[in-house]
Amino acid sequence: MVAYVDKNFSLACFLVLLLFVDSSYARFNTLVTKDQIHTICTKQDINSSYCFQVLNANPEIARLDFPSLFKFVLNYQAQNISDKLKQFKLSGGYTPGVESKYNLCIEFYENSFDRRDEALRYLAAKDYGSVNTMVGGTAINMFNCADDLSTMKPVPQFFVTESNLIKELSKILLVILECFISKKKEYCNRDL
Ligand SMILES: *[C@@H]1O[C@H](CO)[C@@H](O)[C@H](O)[C@H]1NC(C)=O
Ligand SMILES: *[C@@H]1O[C@H](CO)[C@@H](O)[C@H](O)[C@H]1NC(C)=O
Repeated sequence: MVAYVDKNFSLACFLVLLLFVDSSYARFNTLVTKDQIHTICTKQDINSSYCFQVLNANPEIARLDFPSLFKFVLNYQAQNISDKLKQFKLSGGYTPGVESKYNLCIEFYENSFDRRDEALRYLAAKDYGSVNTMVGGTAINMFNCADDLSTMKPVPQFFVTESNLIKELSKILLVILECFISKKKEYCNRDL
């Protein structure tokens, strides 16, 4: 009889715990609304047309909470980095005399690709400062690559534009992170 009461008691505790976990889950993991997408994409320094293009073209975003949205954009970015990396390696190898700048960009791209897993690890650990560093590093890499390529004659405009768009994805990631995940108002309103 005592054992039976004990069992019931621990079951009750378990249910209370579950209820608590469940309600805090619901409280902290609200789904992304259209208004919030609008807020993200119309922030100062964000390329709105590109932002809407990426976020609105993907219907699954309506079912995501902010950490999942962050992962979605991060994976989208990593996929683009890896696509462009392949194209870089192909074109760089066949362009005599310009190899060094392409090689530099390849290193920036490889470094950026590796940042995805790091960012995910820090996001899971809720170490948002380090997530910011990872994502911001990719933006700096893309800026440096585009800057280097812009001094070439002729300018490889395709890679400059693509690098700028990948940098744009980092800026979108930082808005999602700072305004909706870490919720640091001072970072959220800062110019990117
Ligand atoms: C904004 O993004 C579009 C692609 O949607 C691109 O064509 C355009 O060059 C970008 N504008 C700037 C200022 O980067
Ligand atoms: C980014 O990658 C996606 C596929 O993952 C592709 O559909 C899209 O066109 C790419 N965008 C850019 C700017 O490379």
